[in-house]
Amino acid sequence: MKNAEAIEKRRTFGIIAHPDAGKTTLTEKLLLFGGAIQTAGAVKNNKIKKSATSDFMEIEKQRGISVATSVMAFEYGGKQVNILDTPGHKDFAEDTYRTLTAVDSVILVIDCANGVEEQTEKLMEVCRMRKTPVIIFVNKMDREGKDSFTLLDELEEKLDIKVRPLTWPIGMGDRFKGVYNIYDENINLFQANKTKISTDIASISDINSTELDELVGEAPAAELREELEMIEGVYDAFDRDRYLSGEVAPVFFGSAVNNFGVKELLDTFIRISPSPIGRESDTRFIEPSDSKFSGFVFKIHANLDPKHRDRIAFLRIVSGKFERNTFYQHVRLDKKFKFPNPTSFMAQDKSVIDEAFPGDVIGLYDTGNFKIGDTLTEGEKMMFKGIPSFSPEIFQELENLDPMKSKQLEKGIRQLTDEGVAQMFVQQPGNRKIVGTVGQLQFEVIAHRLEHEYGASCRFVPKNYFKACWITTENPEQLNQFLQAKTGNIAKDKDDNFVFLAETPFLLQMAERDYPDLTFHKTSEFKLEV
Ligand code: G4P
Repeated sequence: MKNAEAIEKRRTFGIIAHPDAGKTTLTEKLLLFGGAIQTAGAVKNNKIKKSATSDFMEIEKQRGISVATSVMAFEYGGKQVNILDTPGHKDFAEDTYRTLTAVDSVILVIDCANGVEEQTEKLMEVCRMRKTPVIIFVNKMDREGKDSFTLLDELEEKLDIKVRPLTWPIGMGDRFKGVYNIYDENINLFQANKTKISTDIASISDINSTELDELVGEAPAAELREELEMIEGVYDAFDRDRYLSGEVAPVFFGSAVNNFGVKELLDTFIRISPSPIGRESDTRFIEPSDSKFSGFVFKIHANLDPKHRDRIAFLRIVSGKFERNTFYQHVRLDKKFKFPNPTSFMAQDKSVIDEAFPGDVIGLYDTGNFKIGDTLTEGEKMMFKGIPSFSPEIFQELENLDPMKSKQLEKGIRQLTDEGVAQMFVQQPGNRKIVGTVGQLQFEVIAHRLEHEYGASCRFVPKNYFKACWITTENPEQLNQFLQAKTGNIAKDKDDNFVFLAETPFLLQMAERDYPDLTFHKTSEFKLEV
């Protein structure tokens, strides 16, 4: 296949949601419509239930399942759709943020009763930062929820993005009759059905004809006409360019569990969503059409089988064509590697591939050479930007409980942090290791994995830091003053960058005020901006 043809065909995206909004259900239904699975229920629920914070079997299971379902690819309407899975549990949010660097667009699932929730806002912030095009799917319309106009206002306000409905619900809960497809001007009548795909789409040539009254009843028809008029009055016409630049989010309504509204979503998605887009590197912007291969690692899964220390590095292809058994340049290590068994993922099947194109995600077996953010090229010395570390929210000091096993502990914590399970900051004197995560669960995972995979035992001692801020400046003198004044709060990240561990927002503000020439960054993205 030619590169241009392959690029045009691909649609690589992620589904994000606050836990329980219906991400797993929608993913499954998209696979069902895409023909990648035959019956509902085939995709395992890949989330750790809230109650299971200590259930390590669940964690192990989650790791296994999330590799199998890390990328789900299927063909639909002449396009190759690649869905990148993101962990549902909020303690794995950092993993989700990184996965978002590998997608070209996003579908955000909202529960119509809960509206915008905490995790929704955080995920959206990452999308906004990267100007990722977002489509919103308002789910669970078979239940009573917020009024649709109120919900749209809430989306605009809390997510700081303009919205544009492309379908519109007729009633909700017990009165839910279906959705009107504004984009295609037809109507899909609701039938509760959890396993079958509904295809009863009635075309309506004129919304004012009595046809509509016959289909949904007089009162709902009148209400729909009035609401559609309001929509046209209030919202600008859908403009694909504004969607592609991340300014406007088209909104769809449906009920994923009932397979409802999903086809409209998918049909429109493949028409409006972007084909693979390029990525900025430290030297230039790399277009997908660039003839030379390049890609970056955004996720690593290690030690799936504790007996074999195998790791899989997930590589997003940015440009050119990746070929099996071909030497590529690992830019950070300045070394050439070839890959005899690159893997692609089709729903739950893994298979070895010979070639892959921009937008594709492949798994590379790795013996410890990759870190998150690594770039592979055909020889060019450039690194992709924008795989930031975010400031963790919980900090604990790692203490070794078995001095005989300090080597194992050192190796284990290095590998786990390479994998992105947590971030590590080293404080002097004494090489003290402060581990930072976004969730408490991570510490349990780390302690468990250090013990089972590396034979090391440790303890975590809570630290009351509130943020880790990367420091940059053009005034080395002021930096030195700061480092001396704040010794107890200074650490280095794994790339030797200085980090200020601030105990409270107030102390951070004070530092910003007292040292005006220093910039305190809450993500490590700046490293790649220079
Ligand atoms: P998540 O991945 O975003 O965390 O959510 P998930 O799909 O697991 O869905 C969370 C719950 O919401 C599930 O119920 C699911 O069945 C339900 N759900 C999803 N879509 C709809 C919908 O359109 N309408 C209604 N009424 N419910 C929906 P659960 O009780 O947690 O699990 P289960 O036993 O039903 O699987």
